Amino acid sequence: MTFFTRGLVSTGLFLAASFPALAQTEVKIGYALAPDSHYGVAAQKFEDVVKAETGDDFTFKHFPSSGLGGEREVIEGLQIGTIEATIVSSGTLANFVPETGVFDIPFLFRDLGHARDVLDGPVGQEILAKFDNVGLKGLAWGEQGFRHITNNRNPIHTPADVEGLKIRTMENPVHLAAFNAMGAAPTPMAWPEVISSLQQGVIDGQENPLSVIVSVKLNEVQKYLTLSGHVYSPAMLLVSKPFWDGLDDDQKAAFQKAANEAVAEMRGYVDNVETTGVETLKERGMEVNALSAEEKAAFQASIASAYEGYYKTYGKDLVDSIVNFK
Ligand code: PAF
Repeated sequence: MTFFTRGLVSTGLFLAASFPALAQTEVKIGYALAPDSHYGVAAQKFEDVVKAETGDDFTFKHFPSSGLGGEREVIEGLQIGTIEATIVSSGTLANFVPETGVFDIPFLFRDLGHARDVLDGPVGQEILAKFDNVGLKGLAWGEQGFRHITNNRNPIHTPADVEGLKIRTMENPVHLAAFNAMGAAPTPMAWPEVISSLQQGVIDGQENPLSVIVSVKLNEVQKYLTLSGHVYSPAMLLVSKPFWDGLDDDQKAAFQKAANEAVAEMRGYVDNVETTGVETLKERGMEVNALSAEEKAAFQASIASAYEGYYKTYGKDLVDSIVNFK
């Protein structure tokens, strides 16, 4: 190496050390379920669209299967800016924006179409915007489907069948009130503790949509599945507000577009598992029964006292306007 080339090399090394390549921003995205779940496919779509729209600005690191902790912890991570993005259920969202709890009211929505229309309509969008005030940016409503009860004690047809049933609920006061009113013995619990609690018999059952029951293989720890469809389970794609505020307008538009496409993917996944999930779970050995319209009405009647509380908290007019939304 000549004196001249040696000089060039050392200058190059010096420049490389002093001026690293333009930094890419890492987006850590955490969610409770596996990469092949409705959350996983949505998170992947989110990454793909952001990258397609922004080139090399961002890299993504996925933390599936509660790799960053329970949903509440992850949301708190977003607030302080240590985690950039998440997809969560509505489980703990009412602890951050209390109005969100209105969508957790059992027997509120007729079907998926009704729920999607309300969440994408003025009421849903107004509540989504409130996340701006608590260190979060709610980008879009996704969903998990309608929740059903699984347990190891007995098949469920009537409220008497859930009497004293040790059932895990999300850490959600609206769900807790409903299961208390039914006469069950609900235990609110963060998701990462649920499987081991079922295995050890600390709880008899839990409730989740088919998307979760199939993806987590709850059939390995639960015998009975009752298609109760007692409540719709919304999900949300959120980013950290400190992170959002650091984006320029083009990047914000890219993230919003990506979120819209991600939740469309999630809803498509849910549509599919809602039609195939029961067969899958029967094949895996679960004993499945569906509540008839009369049986469902008996469950609805059993939570009348909880409804009194919901009307007080959210206003009867709002609840009725959602029920009657066409
Ligand atoms: O039951 C829950 O806590 C949620 O539905 C889950 C499984 C964490 C998905 O968000």
